[in-house]
Amino acid sequence: MIAIACDHGGFALKQEIIAHFKENGTPFKDYGCMTTDAVDYPDYAKLVAEAVLSGEAEKGVLICGTGIGISIAANKIPGIRCALCHDVFSAEATRLHNDTNIIALGGRVIGPSHAIKVVDTFLSTPFSNEERHIKRIAKIEEL
Ligand code: RB5
Repeated sequence: MIAIACDHGGFALKQEIIAHFKENGTPFKDYGCMTTDAVDYPDYAKLVAEAVLSGEAEKGVLICGTGIGISIAANKIPGIRCALCHDVFSAEATRLHNDTNIIALGGRVIGPSHAIKVVDTFLSTPFSNEERHIKRIAKIEEL
């Protein structure tokens, strides 16, 4: 299951990504927000991070206006590695190299068609499991 959430700045893009998940048959759970009324992105970062850390969700997708605030918030939570990605190359590389468990996007930055390709790449790319990357991720955990 993929956990997905947004703030008001990411609401429209979240709806597009959810429509794609429904078309594709990708299992997901929507953690809000459910309208364009202003909310605080850290609250939604926390919900998705908890779903990923508990094992309820395999990965997470977080969307705010820029993707920046919500990725900063998610990365404060130990065990979360959240990558802000607006291109397919970065989405693939962050899975291969960083074993990231959440992707963040900016709903005011990227269009839906491109965002869906970025998200699909993130979700379908496995971690490389290469020694050098395992070592570097362990060093992140020790910081
Ligand atoms: C909300 O206006 C906006 O600040 C938020 O969506 C995000 O861009 C923060 O980083």
